[in-house]
Order: sequence, then structure tokens, then C-alpha cells
Amino acid sequence: MEERLQKFMARAGVGSRRHCEELIKEGRVKVNGKIVTELGTKIDLSKDTVEVDDKPLRPREERLYIALNKPAGFITSVTDKYGRPTVIDLLGGVSYRVFPVGRLDFDTEGLLLLTNDGELAFRLTHPRYKVKKEYIAEVEGHPSDRELVNLRKGIMLEDGMTAPAKIKVLRQTRSSAVIDVTIHEERKRQVRRMFQAIGYRVITLKRVAIDGLDLEDLPVGNFRHLTNKEVDMLYKSVRLR
Ligand code: URA
Repeated sequence: MEERLQKFMARAGVGSRRHCEELIKEGRVKVNGKIVTELGTKIDLSKDTVEVDDKPLRPREERLYIALNKPAGFITSVTDKYGRPTVIDLLGGVSYRVFPVGRLDFDTEGLLLLTNDGELAFRLTHPRYKVKKEYIAEVEGHPSDRELVNLRKGIMLEDGMTAPAKIKVLRQTRSSAVIDVTIHEERKRQVRRMFQAIGYRVITLKRVAIDGLDLEDLPVGNFRHLTNKEVDMLYKSVRLR
């Protein structure tokens, strides 16, 4: 990511942009060790170093909020000891470090948020804040209404009862059913384990929404930055100011 030198300096707390422009014109600013006096100079945030009066600048980290449409076959992690592709590999051009909010399984697709805002990330995944996560699951076979009621009410898994869930059958094919599942917990492989508990295997799983955010038409493998309005909405949902 590139940024104009005076904007970067202002963000790093040197002073107003006007003041930063004066410093540049006076020859007091170096980029990668060389004095720069050109006001339009752009710097690459991932690698350039900036000094003012020979003191290096460390800008406050910008907060980033990213929505990714994760493909299956990527792990939700920043690094992987087995060298498998991670969701971070899909964020070409993002120069600040971000980390995934919660996780989607290797074989799950769909909406994944990534940010460097630790408090928001913590609250979005904490059951206390009851943030809704909506999934579309295709399961092998046709679960009956009676079986689905058990998922709606809560079902015993090896790590305890699940909270009530919203479950709606969207359509059925000859051998499978496509089911919309909304939960607000975030346990490991929860949706897959819920269906397993009533005797059904999940064939594909996709997360389509988190709180009021949905995937809309974001293509699989692509990402976008959230708008300020969307970030405000998430903040309100988890009672952050
Ligand atoms: N539930 C699952 O089973 N897997 C996911 O990736 C997310 C929710």
C-alpha cells in the first residue's frame, strides 16, 4: 500500500500535514536514507523507512477491517507449519498485519473477517455478545422436522449443549437437503458436529453472514475493506464505542 509522504508523517504524529510539508521542503526528511524534498513523493508502507531529523518514524498502525470470501482449501491461520495455503495468502496488497476473526474450517467457504482490531475481534467471537453467524449447509439425506427441532432447541455435543439455533430448510435435491443455519456460538466444527449429532453428514458448508454483514456478490477468493458504516454497525453490535 502506498501513501503520500506528508500524510504518512502526519499519521505518525509529526504534526499537521502543512507542517510536514515544510519539513520536507527544508530537507529534514529522509526516505530510505536519502533526503527527499519533493512533496508528491509516495512511500511504500510495507518497506520504506522514513526519518525526520535522522529519527525513524513509527506510525500508529492503521485499523483495517477486511471481509474475505474464503475458498475451501485454505486454512484460517496466519501461518501453517505444514506449508498449506492460508487465508493471509489471499490478501495481496494489504500491507498491515491482520488476523482472522474466529475461524472457518479448511473445507468451509464463505465470509471471514480479518482485522488488527483486537478488542472487536475478541467480542465478535465471544458468546456473551451473541453475534449471529449464518451458514448454508448441504447435508446428505433429508433430515426430518422432528430431527431439526432438536437442533433448534439445542443439542448435546461432546463440549456441552448448543444454544438455540435458527434452522430453515431451503430446498431438497434427490439425495441432499440445503439448510440455512444461524448460530451465535463459535465452537470448533460446530455446524458439522450439530448435523452429525442427528445423524447427517455435511457435504458443503458456507458462511453467508456475520451479524448484519453478508457476502453479497464478493467472488470466492476475493476480499474488500469494510465501509465505516459497516464497522460502526459491528461496534454497536458488540457494545463497543
Ligand atoms: N461450523 C463448522 O462446522 N465449520 C466451520 O467452518 C464453521 C462453523
